[in-house]
Amino acid sequence: MSAKDTVAVILAAGKGTRLHSSVAKVLHRAGGRPLVEHVVRACQGAGITEIFVIVGHQAEDVSAVVVPLGAKAVLQEPQNGTGHAMQVARDAIGNTARYTLVLPGDAPLIRAETLAGLLEAHHAGNAAATLLTANLSDPTGYGRIVHQADGNVAAVVEEKSATPEQRAIREINSSVYCFTLAKLWPCLDDLRPDNAHKELYLTDTAALLSRRGDKVISKLAADSSEILGCNSRKELADVDRFFRQRKAAALMRHTTIYFPETVVVDDAVETGNDTVIEPGVQLLGNTHIGKNCTIRTGSILKNATLGDGVVVEAYTLIEDSQLGNHTVVGPFARLRMHADVRENARIGNFVEVKNSTLHEGAKSMHLTYLGDASIGRLANIGAGTITCNYDGVNKNKTIIGERAFIGSDTALVAPVEVGDGAYIAAGSTITQNVPEDALGIARGTQANKLGWAKARREKMAALKAQKAADAKAAAEKAAEAKADAEKAKV
Ligand code: UD1
Ligand code: CA
Repeated sequence: MSAKDTVAVILAAGKGTRLHSSVAKVLHRAGGRPLVEHVVRACQGAGITEIFVIVGHQAEDVSAVVVPLGAKAVLQEPQNGTGHAMQVARDAIGNTARYTLVLPGDAPLIRAETLAGLLEAHHAGNAAATLLTANLSDPTGYGRIVHQADGNVAAVVEEKSATPEQRAIREINSSVYCFTLAKLWPCLDDLRPDNAHKELYLTDTAALLSRRGDKVISKLAADSSEILGCNSRKELADVDRFFRQRKAAALMRHTTIYFPETVVVDDAVETGNDTVIEPGVQLLGNTHIGKNCTIRTGSILKNATLGDGVVVEAYTLIEDSQLGNHTVVGPFARLRMHADVRENARIGNFVEVKNSTLHEGAKSMHLTYLGDASIGRLANIGAGTITCNYDGVNKNKTIIGERAFIGSDTALVAPVEVGDGAYIAAGSTITQNVPEDALGIARGTQANKLGWAKARREKMAALKAQKAADAKAAAEKAAEAKADAEKAKV
């Protein structure tokens, strides 16, 4: 056997009615990827390069996921069952291979090692068909494996057509198979839709082959959880949890994760030795984290690249951005659209950085928006600084030189440049370039009116006293009038 004479067919044309979703079942996500992507990757991991994905329901969307992975999409229209799906596959495969793996597109936990083991069993057993099976404590809903006296498989019986004795069988069909194509192809023409769904069942080929005297064998999956499908949202969540646990366990060989059950890590994520991940962190997409980093509680990193010794303080969002060695960002910071924070730079709380570079050692510690900006080495951005980068039509650039000092509450109206070593006075609205080593100041001039406050306080106190005296007089007058009225009554 070589991977060259073996192809894979992934059945992914069905709708997935039980998910009650407008999205095709195989496009639902677990472990950070569409279900069908996991299956394609498992086949590739087993050394199979020719992969046919049978698409039907939302064919275009499913194709858009699998084709970029190198698989071929084959349209099944209408969807007349798993046996019909293989008839469609037959036309696509032609004479290019001798064996095929068949897998359902909605069981994403299958591992490459398991597929390799199935192929091995198929060849060692010299079988026409080899079924991956599992013993389940609750086999409800699955096709049951019926063995003949010699241990080979006699038939797969679907739940709806099973007898009570057959329903008691706990060995189930995972829907993962290996077939010898020369044996399978003629069988497909003998399938009949004489079942509850009026469909052509691929499972019926087991009995057809067996009756012809061809060998059909089963191989028990080492871990029955691997064959878990995602037929309901509950199963989807279970499968997702399984992926997360597997990934966290892999990272924990060299990275510390506290409360790993609260941490969400996508498959492609890498972390370095002695990095620490606190509870409630999400590491998504192609996030790469170096050594000795700390990612604190509540932070979400997506497609982020971190050097070594980086600290991401709590509740920080980083997307499509990079942090150099020994940078510190957050808490409550947001970096997006290619924020590039170079070595030793610091970003503090409530700072948003979009499409901007902070060169080595630059700092922006509080309440700031830096958009489309370049901040020079060792520059300091004061609290409340805003780059006014958008004029309603264009995004304009702000360029700040090395060691520049931007005073607090500065508005930088882009496009604008502040030269190396320049100062900006706090509270300035900067609309013109500031030359290097200059002070830029753009705000109202301050005047101090001596004694003004004291005089005002005294004036207000006098007014208050007068108001109280007036109220008292009015009350006395009213009381007198009332007393007079009482007297008159008597
Ligand atoms: C199938 C098996 C059952 C097995 C179970 C394991 C059949 C008849 N039964 O049942 O023995 O225990 O899987 O999960 O095969 N699909 C197509 N085209 C179609 C119909 C289905 O591509 O016309 C795809 C679906 O998208 C799905 C896979 O085939 O990914 C399996 O179909 P599904 O309807 O889920 O079969 P089950 O009822 O689960
Ligand atoms: Ca299924």
